[in-house]
Amino acid sequence: MIPQSRYSLTNRLDLEKIFGRKAPLEVDLGCGNGSFLCALAQSMPYKNFLGIERLLGRIRSSARKAASLNNVRLLQMESSYAVRYLLPAGSVETFYLLFPDPWPKRRHHRRRIVTPDFLGYVHTALKVNGGIYIATDHLDYFRKIEETARSTSGFAIAEVDVELPPSGFELIFRQQGAPIHWLALRKVSPVT
Ligand SMILES: C[S@@+](CC[C@H](N)C(=O)[O-])C[C@H]1O[C@@H](n2cnc3c(N)ncnc32)[C@H](O)[C@@H]1O
Repeated sequence: MIPQSRYSLTNRLDLEKIFGRKAPLEVDLGCGNGSFLCALAQSMPYKNFLGIERLLGRIRSSARKAASLNNVRLLQMESSYAVRYLLPAGSVETFYLLFPDPWPKRRHHRRRIVTPDFLGYVHTALKVNGGIYIATDHLDYFRKIEETARSTSGFAIAEVDVELPPSGFELIFRQQGAPIHWLALRKVSPVT
């Protein structure tokens, strides 16, 4: 966990200092219990991994899993704020947004994280050719995310061409036999 006393809530993160090295950065937004984040970090020791999660209990579970990994850091924070205000522009190679809360009731749709503004913040934080992988079991939300992505400039819809470890929620949905919808977006234009 990043010690709160040393980092501000408004200054951009000094990633080299936080990780103690320069390396490609992957960020798991809403990392839950950290199983996906830590499996990925273990398989790619040459990259840095940041898990962002708003619930303390889940940050603690993630921290327990990350204890033996020196390439994982955790941030208890609202994802959208962190992407917009804390991640330096052009600093992220890959974002993962796996099973974001779908807020199924229509009156709650405004709480969904994927909005044109959110994708704009993601775009700014990504390196050129970097990308975001999004997964959801919720078809209505998936269609809305696709529609939002298509109308946001600077992204191309890409193939989901990587083998990723299953996240905690992916395992649950798979057990239930729920279909899982994946979307990969690649940043195609330079930061302006
Ligand atoms: C359905 S769970 C998925 C967890 C994990 N990604 C997985 O696939 O197992 C959604 C997670 O995102 C977190 N979350 C939801 N909205 C968030 C936000 N705006 N900022 C940070 N975390 C958020 C929740 O606390 C929860 O842990």
